[in-house]
Amino acid sequence: MNRVHIKTYGCQMNERDSEAVAAMLRGRGYSIVSDEADADIVLLNTCSVRELAEQKAMGKAGHLRKRRRKNPDFMIGVMGCMAQNRGVNILDRLPDLDLLVGTQKFHAVPDHLDHLIATRQGQGPRPATIIDLDAEEGSQNTIRAHSEERKISAFVSIMQGCNMKCSYCIVPKTRGEERARPMDDIVAEIEELARNGTKEVTLLGQIVNQYAVREFPFANGKSPFVQLLERVNAIDGIERIRFTSPHPVGFREDLIECYGRLEKLCEYIHFPMQSGSDRILKQMRRPYTVERFKRIVAALRARCPDLCISTDVIVGFPGETEEDFELTRQAFADIRFDMAYIFKYSVRPGTTAEPLGDPISDELKMQRNQLLLDQLEEYSLAHNKTLLGTVQEVLIESPARKGEGMFVGRNRGYRKIVLPASERLVGELVQVKITEASSTTLIGELVLEGVEVGV
Ligand code: 5AD
Ligand code: SF4
Repeated sequence: MNRVHIKTYGCQMNERDSEAVAAMLRGRGYSIVSDEADADIVLLNTCSVRELAEQKAMGKAGHLRKRRRKNPDFMIGVMGCMAQNRGVNILDRLPDLDLLVGTQKFHAVPDHLDHLIATRQGQGPRPATIIDLDAEEGSQNTIRAHSEERKISAFVSIMQGCNMKCSYCIVPKTRGEERARPMDDIVAEIEELARNGTKEVTLLGQIVNQYAVREFPFANGKSPFVQLLERVNAIDGIERIRFTSPHPVGFREDLIECYGRLEKLCEYIHFPMQSGSDRILKQMRRPYTVERFKRIVAALRARCPDLCISTDVIVGFPGETEEDFELTRQAFADIRFDMAYIFKYSVRPGTTAEPLGDPISDELKMQRNQLLLDQLEEYSLAHNKTLLGTVQEVLIESPARKGEGMFVGRNRGYRKIVLPASERLVGELVQVKITEASSTTLIGELVLEGVEVGV
């Protein structure tokens, strides 16, 4: 009765929330299974950022209901953003869900499952769906548990929610107001991870560089986020620091000068631009110009010439003309992003862009998407070719999917590198000489004190 499978949709924040739920459940004696077929309980941790993500989770839940009909002891829960966004309306289509849990109540999942199981075992009436969608003060502090098994690279949630009002975005509705965790708690969590062998941490927040701006004082012109980076940089055992995602608002010199100064801060940044047209940025209620965005990028590159930059862009926002899209292509060409996540605009109910409708056809969105992907492929290949023959520091993460003694890791620029290695080196930082480069993959071989080695 206590084998749980958690399926996660959406962003890294969701992945982290699922991990924390899994760790809390393990602490209560549940076992977490990776194969859905082995589970007595399936929890879907959902995403609402685009309609497709919601459709996928609804479809999945609908499918699981068939299994529940055959086996009444089987339980289904829906957690996270879609639960928060759609609330009890979900029950119109999925009336027999066992559990509906919002983004501020992940920590209550073990209690709810205990209760559900107890009632199944005849210790009370079988409850209708347990619905727990309220806001909760301090809920940002509840995503802290990690599983006991060693995690080479770990996510750490430093804040929740978002106070920006991007016109297309559902996140302020699903995740609520911006709330920061205390810095000491975050540092303690990362120290504990380091003791358990974690080498790399990624600090997560909707707008990480705004971390605790209201709760924590600036010191010598340094924002709370920069102070946090400095403290994480000082933790023994942690070798690499990443964060996602920053916003041009409040992206100042104090953060720029961390690059190169904090030796563990990796030469990589995910920096969402959303559009290369000032007119569209304004419609999106993104409070910066393309010029300002480029100035930040230029300052970062001046400080850190090897910096790899990825971005998010939305194509087909209502009213995006050919000229607007050309400006996005131009910005891509000027900045030469190493990677980008390109999204086709999706209307989100309740956002301020909703009344604008969705006038741009899917076909045009696909075309624009493809044009940007083609550009990216060119930049990515050119960048990867510059790495040929160089020696990169690689953190080996796991065996490669295709096996055959191959392993995968990433360099500090977040490029994936495949190399022959051995299980013993998983979790180690090694020096790797790059021998082959395509736009998507780098292949390399281990180097030991300047000498290439076989394994
Ligand atoms: N439609 C398409 N993409 C969206 N994003 C956020 N909201 C929408 C939407 N309504 C994208 C943004 C954001 C990323 C996580 O998802 O680019 O940075
Ligand atoms: Fe959405 Fe904007 Fe907040 Fe990002 S910053 S989560 S795009 S509202």
